[in-house]
Amino acid sequence: MAALPLPLNGAGLRLDQLVAADYPRYRALYVDPRVAGPCGLASGGEDALRTWIDAARSLPPSQGRAYALRHAGQERLAGMLRLTDWERQAGHLTLSYTLCPTLWGRGLMAGCLSPLLPWLFAGGLGEPIHRVQAWVLSGNQRSRQLLASLGFQHEGTLRGMLRLADGRHDICAYGLLAVDLPNSQPLCQSGQPGPAPCWGLHSKEMPA
Ligand SMILES: CC(C)(COP(=O)(O)OP(=O)(O)OC[C@H]1O[C@@H](n2cnc3c(N)ncnc32)[C@H](O)[C@@H]1OP(=O)(O)O)[C@@H](O)C(=O)NCCC(=O)NCCS
Repeated sequence: MAALPLPLNGAGLRLDQLVAADYPRYRALYVDPRVAGPCGLASGGEDALRTWIDAARSLPPSQGRAYALRHAGQERLAGMLRLTDWERQAGHLTLSYTLCPTLWGRGLMAGCLSPLLPWLFAGGLGEPIHRVQAWVLSGNQRSRQLLASLGFQHEGTLRGMLRLADGRHDICAYGLLAVDLPNSQPLCQSGQPGPAPCWGLHSKEMPA
């Protein structure tokens, strides 16, 4: 796996390698109805969860990254951040994320994504990205507001796209282009490939 962008302070989320020992926390995260519901995940049982984590752990770098999120110096899994379906020729990929509900409401995901997005656009994965997209259930207001606050545009709604136990649901398509970023330039000032120096400072959580 390519070098991971790491936070410069201990208040936010740290991107880390997903390891086999993360499975119990991973399982707890995705069986939680507060996560499974807004993500539109049907309960597939233990086998499905094992398949998901194995797929995340073995995602080829040419297709994207699946990062474990860890909070403020802790080792236990706090969430997941996925960059998948990387179309290298076209320069776009798909973003998805999940955070443990006990950590919601502190602006942590915005604090994580704010420096990550310019890092991505600037070629943090090894090649510049032109577009990042995200698919969100229309009723997932928290995630929709998060994307909007990061500058993503709601580009349209795919009606009745997802069928769940309680019926059909609309999916909102969000997109952010490199040119949408303020100044359209990487935040990294060091000249080295890596994280922005302000990593984590957008978090609403105060450093301990
Ligand atoms: C999406 C998720 C990562 C956001 O977590 P978070 O970083 O704690 O988000 P916050 O609580 O800081 O909220 C983000 C924004 O939504 C707003 N918000 C919170 N609850 C809201 C609601 N019910 N309706 C509208 N906006 C809401 C917050 O005010 C904040 O906006 P602001 O920064 O403009 O003030 C988290 O809710 C999660 O893991 N959800 C389950 C998984 C999921 O939905 N993943 C996305 C699938 S596409």
